[in-house]
Amino acid sequence: MKEITAQDEISLHRNGFLEYDVDPELDLFVEIQKLKKEKNAVILAHYYQDGDIQDIADFVGDSLQLSQEAARTSADIIAFAGVHFMAETAKILSPNKKVILPDLKAGCSLSDSCPAPIFAKFKEKYPDHIVVSYVNCTADLKTLTDICCTSSNAVHVINSIPKDKGIIFAPDKNLGAYLEKVTGRKMILWNGACMVHEIFSKERIAKLKHQNPEAIIIAHPECEEPVLAMAEFIGSTSQLLNFTKKKEYNSFIVATEAGIIHQMERASPQKTFIPAPPNNHCACNECPHMKRNTLEKLYICLKYELPEVVLSQEVIQKSRACIDRMLEISEKAGLK
Ligand code: 13P
Ligand code: SF4
Repeated sequence: MKEITAQDEISLHRNGFLEYDVDPELDLFVEIQKLKKEKNAVILAHYYQDGDIQDIADFVGDSLQLSQEAARTSADIIAFAGVHFMAETAKILSPNKKVILPDLKAGCSLSDSCPAPIFAKFKEKYPDHIVVSYVNCTADLKTLTDICCTSSNAVHVINSIPKDKGIIFAPDKNLGAYLEKVTGRKMILWNGACMVHEIFSKERIAKLKHQNPEAIIIAHPECEEPVLAMAEFIGSTSQLLNFTKKKEYNSFIVATEAGIIHQMERASPQKTFIPAPPNNHCACNECPHMKRNTLEKLYICLKYELPEVVLSQEVIQKSRACIDRMLEISEKAGLK
């Protein structure tokens, strides 16, 4: 393995990845397959990654499926094509494996909205409450959490808590409000949101629906309430994908990050998928954090096994319990 130079350190720190030129003649699909075999590495990719990354991954899934896969893999290296909190979760579940992320700066606005030291103070105000955190949060926040959840299992997690117990839900206020509605539980909600799901325009979706009356509006629960109110189906990325496979529907307006449409089109090539528009004319229905990962960065990161996601033993130990509880609840409910 190449020695890491001072210049490499600078590029890792400044850019979040090693700044090496990749020969444009290289067939990255072939090279990445070779590296994976040589190093006994596995590539896990989230549905919001670019299509080429999803195509080369060993496993593509939603946050719950990716954490289940990270816990069960026998590979020596996990190359995580997703964002930082996802790679941290993989490290917590597989502490003896090397976890690498193509770009260390692939963050998450939701995760950033809830800094652990501020949350710790907030939590002190509700000493008898159970803390449920959406998995989209830092490992440090997970150390302050009783049970984690993803959008696939959040309803099961909330329903597993005795009715007389108060709940603090962090960091997503939109998912929290949706859960309050579905479970009938009132919770203390942290005021965070996802920059991508928050930007969908109710008016522009209504216009699209008017132009495409046969299209079914489907939405992720990270969307704001007015968009969720228009949706005919609400679910996590994998639940949305499964819904689109149903025979009876042929056309969809998709209110979540547009990367999921890659798998929807692969599964149902004859159907139509219209990305829900944001409230301006930017490409804001693409997550800029997820999209920091590229095939070139994935190749470099596998080749040099950098950047690596490192957590202290203390954080790993303290954050693991809330993820294990979530996985137990999911297993009991038969969620995959
Ligand atoms: P899921 O894939 O679990 O639905 O999560 C969506 C998301 O926003 C991930 O960052
Ligand atoms: Fe975070 Fe939203 Fe991007 Fe998911 S889509 S990683 S919640 S900013």
